[in-house]
Amino acid sequence: MKDPVTFYPGDDPVREEAGSGGSAILKSSASRRAFIKGVIASGAVAGSSTFLFGGLGGCSSDQPAAGTIERLLSLNVNGKIRRVDVLPNETLAMTLRYKLGLTGTKLGCDRGECGACTVLVDGVSTYACSTLTHMVGDRQVRTIEGLEGPDGELHPIQQAFIDELGPQCGFCTSGQIMTTVALLEANPNPTRDEARHALSGNLCRCGAYDHYLNSVMRVAQEA
Ligand code: FES
Ligand code: FES
Repeated sequence: MKDPVTFYPGDDPVREEAGSGGSAILKSSASRRAFIKGVIASGAVAGSSTFLFGGLGGCSSDQPAAGTIERLLSLNVNGKIRRVDVLPNETLAMTLRYKLGLTGTKLGCDRGECGACTVLVDGVSTYACSTLTHMVGDRQVRTIEGLEGPDGELHPIQQAFIDELGPQCGFCTSGQIMTTVALLEANPNPTRDEARHALSGNLCRCGAYDHYLNSVMRVAQEA
């Protein structure tokens, strides 16, 4: 005898529904199956959507907010308060580049190894790719764009990097410069070894390390 709750191959739920009371249970079972199928299908779509947008570092505003976290932040960037909608898993590098248009901050490895994304947070050189924007709070963020003088002139450190022919491809340069800013603000007269140590977290694939060190020493001597 068939279990009335189980749907067997060949059964016709529509025909049986018109019959006994047991068919009502069958209808309920089939409906529940359809419901579960729907949930699984929608979960798969949500999962693939997360994967797709995760490739952009979680920068899509299509993703739902997690919990009750406040997404609209007021960030202090280069001395200005910027209101920005930030996802819970968004890094500072993604916010700066793709929400605020500050593309001077570069993304190299995107995992805390190369230093291309270096910015200053309260004066401390920081990998923006490894910092959640929600963790920044009201701290002051400085990017390479914030070094520009009132009339668009270069910062003395930028000028020294040019004078010493520091940049080759230039991809690492803004990170090297921001680290140098942090160094010279903390120690205006570093030795070459101290400068080398300070810049050790900034990799240069072009191998322009000596040029960069010459730049740091030049601006330190000129100060
Ligand atoms: Fe941040 Fe490489 S991009 S450390
Ligand atoms: Fe090319 Fe440093 S100048 S990576």
